Amino acid sequence: MKRIVTTRDLKKSYVTGAGSLEVLHGVNFKLDEGEFTAIMGPSGSGKSTFMNILGCLDVQTSGDFELLGESVKNLSPDQLAKHRNRFIGFVFQGYNLLPKSDLVENVSLPLLYSRVPAAERRKRALEQLDKVGLTPWVDHLPTQVSGGQQQRAAIARALVGKPSLILADEPTGNLDSQTSDEIMQLLISLNDEGTSLILVTHEPDVAECAKRIVRFRDGLLVEDAPVEKRRIP
Ligand SMILES: Nc1ncnc2c1ncn2[C@@H]1O[C@H](COP(=O)(O)OP(=O)(O)OP(=O)(O)O)[C@@H](O)[C@H]1O
Ligand SMILES: [Mg+2]
Repeated sequence: MKRIVTTRDLKKSYVTGAGSLEVLHGVNFKLDEGEFTAIMGPSGSGKSTFMNILGCLDVQTSGDFELLGESVKNLSPDQLAKHRNRFIGFVFQGYNLLPKSDLVENVSLPLLYSRVPAAERRKRALEQLDKVGLTPWVDHLPTQVSGGQQQRAAIARALVGKPSLILADEPTGNLDSQTSDEIMQLLISLNDEGTSLILVTHEPDVAECAKRIVRFRDGLLVEDAPVEKRRIP
């Protein structure tokens, strides 16, 4: 089994006008290939801070973070960006699609940074859009499709570079419960095909679709347990 993520005594402080504030106080966490883990915990407990570090969007203040066995601490900002692009797919609550680009352009965007030729980019984006059931909408703008469809497009964009890990921070936060279930079905099927996933959610119904739930409180990981009875919508 391949280890995707290891953190050891991971700490993070933010420096603000009022001084330095530590918000992660030493997090130990492991994720193997094929896992599907939900992160829960109160607002402000450090979930997004942790996800941003795992996603190479930010760096820890101290402690270790290894992605695919390699310590990320010594990478330059440029190398960090390459790591992010190569290994990580992101899905956010607000979809973060480019409003003036149609769905196929949005989904092909990550491939632009890896210098894939235009025709190949389009072909791969269309394949991913088909996988998430959006073939009829590929030339629509994000504003011309529903919230659930925008989130599907964001998932297709996260997948197009064939990442080792998908990080989803409250991906169902803006969706009604039926659409949220559709997104969870999609994430479950991706995990069944072997994609490793970490998802942050406030909703127990959503967390129970994962195989494991980790809980944060006040900047610490306080509980880590398998889901006894998974909810498969
Ligand atoms: N860029 C920043 N600068 C300063 N403080 C920050 C920054 N980002 C987050 N924080 C602080 O760090 C703490 C953890 O925030 P974080 O966003 O990780 O929480 P969260 O668990 O994701 O909360 P939520 O459930 O509301 O999304 C909070 O006290 C927050 O105010
Ligand atoms: Mg958050």
